[in-house]
Amino acid sequence: MHEQDAVVHFSLIGLPGSGKSTIGRQLARQWHLPFIDSDHVIEQRLGCTIKQYFAEHGEAAFRDVEQQVLAELLAATAPCVLSTGGGSVLRAANRQALQAHSTVFYLQSTPEDIARRLRNDTTRPLMQGDDPLQRLQELLAVREPLYLATAHYVVDAARQNASQVSRKIGMQA
Ligand code: S3P
Repeated sequence: MHEQDAVVHFSLIGLPGSGKSTIGRQLARQWHLPFIDSDHVIEQRLGCTIKQYFAEHGEAAFRDVEQQVLAELLAATAPCVLSTGGGSVLRAANRQALQAHSTVFYLQSTPEDIARRLRNDTTRPLMQGDDPLQRLQELLAVREPLYLATAHYVVDAARQNASQVSRKIGMQA
């Protein structure tokens, strides 16, 4: 399942707003591991927000940076809990790296649940537009097979708070 002798991190994947950062932080605290949010590392590297970078350079340029940062984080020799960007599974290289170097949890939610959580969010470039629910449905249609193919564990994260989801993951890990 994992590459032989690889350091095994714990990765969280799922749609934007599925709770990856909040739950990742809780798990890291429980397991006494460092927590790393890949979007945060990307923004530090870019020196601007992901939203600004998307606007100036487009999605493909962002995906290149995301792939580079993910590869570096997953190659680190100290285990960590890693929260990934919702689109990280779009590239095969990322899916392979996540599977080889981490135990991957897919936080499975519904577009309706996420739209409710993100209703006041203005930071996510792919969520801009008149109809966030429809956007989430489109994203999920493309990504759900990729999330399922990458995950070692699928965790039901719809209509549950972060502590409930962390507890479920704790029982599986
Ligand atoms: C993206 C999700 C974002 C961020 C970028 C692209 C996506 O991360 O990586 O805006 O393609 O779904 P979150 O999932 O943490 O919002």
